[in-house]
Amino acid sequence: MKFTASVLSLAVAVLAVTEAGSHGGQVQLSRNPNFKHNTKAQIAKINRRYPQLKVMSGKVPLTDVKPDLEYYGTVQVGTPAQEVRLDFDTGSSDIWFPSTSCTTSACKKHHRFNSSKSSSFKKDGRKWSIEYGDDSSASGILGSDFVSVGGIKVRQTIGLATKESSEFGSSPNDGLFGLAFSNIESVSGVKTFMDNAIAGKKLKEPIVSVFLPSERRNGGKGGYYLFGAIDHTHYTGSLTYVPVTRKGYWQVDVEGLKVDGKTVSGAPSQGIIDTGTTLLILSDSAAKAVHKGIKGAENDDMYGWTVPCSLKKSTKNISFKLGSKYFNVPMADLAYEAIDSGSKTCVSGVQGGQDGLWILGDVFIKNNYIVFDKSSSPRIGIAPLKY
Ligand SMILES: *[C@@H]1O[C@H](CO)[C@@H](O)[C@H](O)[C@H]1NC(C)=O
Ligand SMILES: *[C@@H]1O[C@H](CO)[C@@H](O)[C@H](O)[C@H]1NC(C)=O
Repeated sequence: MKFTASVLSLAVAVLAVTEAGSHGGQVQLSRNPNFKHNTKAQIAKINRRYPQLKVMSGKVPLTDVKPDLEYYGTVQVGTPAQEVRLDFDTGSSDIWFPSTSCTTSACKKHHRFNSSKSSSFKKDGRKWSIEYGDDSSASGILGSDFVSVGGIKVRQTIGLATKESSEFGSSPNDGLFGLAFSNIESVSGVKTFMDNAIAGKKLKEPIVSVFLPSERRNGGKGGYYLFGAIDHTHYTGSLTYVPVTRKGYWQVDVEGLKVDGKTVSGAPSQGIIDTGTTLLILSDSAAKAVHKGIKGAENDDMYGWTVPCSLKKSTKNISFKLGSKYFNVPMADLAYEAIDSGSKTCVSGVQGGQDGLWILGDVFIKNNYIVFDKSSSPRIGIAPLKY
């Protein structure tokens, strides 16, 4: 269970702010009301003039691994395309998956990329390795090839795993697709997919937005990432924009926390919006405050915080203050999963242990639509999710 992916890299990453985000250009086309449409010819003409208009946004449907443990999408790599299933992770930056030269049992359970079958593959020569906050790891070599998601295609440096820790053996995804900033790539100098797509003017806007569905609320259906655009139909009200305080992760100020409408004491903190982490990981004191009013909540070494599964019926919320507004997470989502099948005790969706940097993982994101905006002053847009 990937509770705290990428927390470790937090400790080792150099979070120097060196990146100058670049803008994807947007071209306004004016309309001539007298013009008789020959759409195909017109599009061809536009594409000749503005090749960057060919693909401006790309939708990547997600599979929700029960019970909202993680979400993966299909990515095409190489020529002809080989498909891999990747967990899109805003808490790390590397793109990697196993290579056919990995013959461990963990690798063999997955789609492995055969670079000899791709005419566009280029060798790199550098070694590559990554470790995540839950102690899982992978290593191998770097290479470069075309990576395509939802029709957005860029030449991309990729990690080809020849070794994986056992955690990956049981995971339904083949690898990860990092969506954080280039300065936390495992090998310095490697640019992320987003930075390459922005530099190549492949996106209408320098953003990626996400709708994560919920098993409990809509059966886990219909989730997707949208590269280059925002789906305004999937949230209520307007987006609140919060500046990224430090580039590396998608890090923002968390200004406050309420439990059932009451402010919980404890210093406001910094947090990261991390689609690659399943739960909400707060400071020990905040996690304690969240569970204080929940009858039957307990904390032990084996499971961390647990709550009665009957909390699924709760109509209360906990709320995080970001950009001066509160964003809700239903208390029902704290009854994450029974500790054993048939048990009436559930692992809580809120855990402690992150005194420096709170991790607002999927439990937060499946309740709030998020826009990851990589313009020159990066920011995060948030609004309550509409299913
Ligand atoms: C990789 O592709 C090459 C070229 O088609 C093939 O000879 C080789 O057997 C493949 N390797 C594996 C492990 O499938
Ligand atoms: C909990 O949050 C939801 C979604 O934002 C909201 O519709 C509902 O009114 C809130 N419930 C309470 C008791 O505040």
